[in-house]
Amino acid sequence: MFGKVAVFGLGYVGLTTALALDAAKIRVVGYDIDNDKLDKLKNKELYIHEPNLEPLIEMHNISVTNDINVALQDDVKIALVCVGTPSRNDGSINLEYVFNCMEEIATSLINRDKGLLIILKSTVLPGTSEKCIAILEKISGKYHGQDFSFVMSPEFLREGSALSDTINPDKIVIGFKHDSEWDATVELYVQMLIGHDKEPNYDIFVGCNYVNAEFVKYANNAYLATKISFMNDLANLCEEVPGADIKMIEKALGMDHRISPYFLKAGLGYGGSCFPKDVDALIHLFENAGIESTLLQEVQGVNLSQRNWPEYIIRSVFANTFSNLRVGVLGLAFKPDTDDMRESPAIDIIHNLHIRGADIIAHDPEAVENAKKVLPPITYADDIYDVLSGADCVIVATDWKEYTHIIPRTFKKLMKRPVVIDGRRIYNPQAMLKAGIEYYGVGFGKLDETY
Ligand code: UDX
Repeated sequence: MFGKVAVFGLGYVGLTTALALDAAKIRVVGYDIDNDKLDKLKNKELYIHEPNLEPLIEMHNISVTNDINVALQDDVKIALVCVGTPSRNDGSINLEYVFNCMEEIATSLINRDKGLLIILKSTVLPGTSEKCIAILEKISGKYHGQDFSFVMSPEFLREGSALSDTINPDKIVIGFKHDSEWDATVELYVQMLIGHDKEPNYDIFVGCNYVNAEFVKYANNAYLATKISFMNDLANLCEEVPGADIKMIEKALGMDHRISPYFLKAGLGYGGSCFPKDVDALIHLFENAGIESTLLQEVQGVNLSQRNWPEYIIRSVFANTFSNLRVGVLGLAFKPDTDDMRESPAIDIIHNLHIRGADIIAHDPEAVENAKKVLPPITYADDIYDVLSGADCVIVATDWKEYTHIIPRTFKKLMKRPVVIDGRRIYNPQAMLKAGIEYYGVGFGKLDETY
């Protein structure tokens, strides 16, 4: 059994991993430069909206520090690096935090007798692991494979289901050079899974070199983003074909096991901290290699233009008139079960409608505080029904479960004009049309006379 694990960077990935290890009775020390996060963790307060983590945070035994020497005391055998890799303005990826973290770890390696296994979990460009190893060797004067070990193991967890994804992984990718690195990393994951009463399945472990481990994360996210943009592209066509419905296409496509039913939902496009950033980074990687990926450029293009869909519907229904138009917006977060506004389609949608003079009232169960930081001055409602009352139209921007419970009659009763623009296809179009709602759903080719 190994000693303590130090987790560097306590954001989504780092915090979830630290709590999952801790709950599996593995001793953890958490390191971050953000004292606010450390204080909250110390006080057992959750600073991200991730419901399944609540019980774990209440009983955690993680010690926290912003001092690298405290984080890497001798009883620590593994350092998990989970720091952020944000985008630069030109879409390329900024690896500064990863390299800074490696420099700090390298400094503490200088006086360390016993070996340390460094596992990089941050999303990084192919070639980054070798650069990290070079930094570690140069600063510490120690040697990879002899004095320290290095593994690249990308993270695939999703916000909103972070814990469940961590303890029920489809795959665990381990990029390594020396067999001992593979053995120690597999052991860590197995101990964590056993600690959560999971029977370890060794078939899910994928061993490869560093470059492929780095590459696979981008390939994974770019492929899922491509599926979504493909469906949004088809949805636009469905709307022009009376009787066509993207939901039926989605259902039938998903039944083909070669396609799978996941990430086929047409909507307002993907957002969040990963897909937009990772597709951009991959496009840059192509460019740096002297190749153009027209496919990925189109994936991003379709994604961005999908955010114009609600405005396109409003223009056609209200004859391009936005002034005095009261628009209700249901949902602000980039997806349900998170308070994360990063790259949320709602940002562009609301900005554009606001500029054109619409009067906007919005609701979100969790994301309002974060939304206020990125949205223009609009009205926020605590109650869903205040969004509907007196509205000329309502846009469903995030598929929160509570919005699915609104019945057609309520829209009809409360709205000034019952125009429902369902950007997430959460309502039954037939029921809405039957109730007299002017219903517009992504990928729904209306055939009025049928209903
Ligand atoms: C994603 C990856 O799934 C995860 O493996 C990676 O580690 C981080 O990035 P996340 O950003 O949390 O996770 O959200 P995800 O559930 O993947 O959804 C991403 C976006 O795609 C959301 O905006 C969501 O609304 C959208 N989406 C998803 C669709 O539009 N249609 C779908 O069918 C699925």
